[in-house]
Amino acid sequence: MEKIPLSRSYHSPRIEERILQVVRGGNYILGPECKAFEAELATYFGRKHVVLSSSWTAAVHLLHLAQGLKEGDEILVPSLTAFPSIEPMIHVGAKPVFCDIDETYTIDLEDARRRITKRTVGILPVHLYGRPADIDGFQQLAKEHGLWMIEDCAQSHGAKWKGKRAGSYGEHAAFSFYPSKNLTVYGDGGAIATDDPEIAKKVTMLRNHGRKDKYLHEKVGFNLRFNEIQAAVGREQLVVLDELNAGRRRAADWYRRELEGVRGVALPPKDIPGVTESVYHMFVIRLDDHDTREGLGKALKEQGIETGVHYPVPNHQQPAITELYGEGDRLTRTEDYVARILSLPMYPALTEEQVVRVANAIKSYLKK
Ligand SMILES: Cc1ncc(COP(=O)(O)O)c(C=O)c1O
Repeated sequence: MEKIPLSRSYHSPRIEERILQVVRGGNYILGPECKAFEAELATYFGRKHVVLSSSWTAAVHLLHLAQGLKEGDEILVPSLTAFPSIEPMIHVGAKPVFCDIDETYTIDLEDARRRITKRTVGILPVHLYGRPADIDGFQQLAKEHGLWMIEDCAQSHGAKWKGKRAGSYGEHAAFSFYPSKNLTVYGDGGAIATDDPEIAKKVTMLRNHGRKDKYLHEKVGFNLRFNEIQAAVGREQLVVLDELNAGRRRAADWYRRELEGVRGVALPPKDIPGVTESVYHMFVIRLDDHDTREGLGKALKEQGIETGVHYPVPNHQQPAITELYGEGDRLTRTEDYVARILSLPMYPALTEEQVVRVANAIKSYLKK
């Protein structure tokens, strides 16, 4: 029985060749490949500056330092996201203010509005599962209250909002190139994008020991640099990103065709024509209850089909968070959804036959 993994990254002989080329070239850190990858990402996302770092988490830590975030600053963020979305802000003394999600699994605008205080400085919407959050709504909210916005694009490379790339709207945006992401560098990697030259300059300096020059350190910085081999991989992945995303969207269409109208399965929200273009980092369905989700996951595993839950414990209920801030508000929809969601296999090379096999396995489990 052929196994169907949850995700699988794209490889090609061309990428293997490029890796060897860099190995033989002998330049390994922050060289011409990194520079070119930054420039190409900036063009692709329509931003003036992109600065690479060793992960999303590292890049955003540097960004928060460059922004001058301070103790007591509050940032609105959805609770339903990868834990790293909130780690950098906590490390610089700022406080995540957890918001509920709407039916698209992204941060709920009205819930976020209610949580604004005198200490709120910014919003960090997450384009979760590859679907843009309500960018217009959050831009308006940010404008009304004088807040900045950082788009968390770790799961949304190439997604669009009203014809423009997600990641081109907020003051800043951040990307992850972790292996399962839509664009990967076969390891850890990340970047921030911004139109602010001062921020780009500070992040560039901080990632490399606060260096202004080889032996001149203007700031106490970090070693959170990026590598040439991985930049070469990223450049090749960027060339085919739209094609890879089209493969994900095709797989999503097959899932919809096979699962539409099946009782007990809530499909991901459809795109709003002319507004959102999702890139299906994940294809997440929702079952009627927790036990069905658990049982279905187990049944699929027995048939060689890997699934996941993103995420089983929302961040406002993580032990690290309740220890810091105590029990926060209940977030009704988030807490309900996390008990029932299931991520199905999703990657560009997924075939129609594989999707049909997954869908049939779901249907036959639910009929029992
Ligand atoms: C939404 C989101 N934000 C942030 C991150 C952190 O990215 P990285 O692993 O590159 O630090 C991830 C990846 O795990 C993510 O999915």
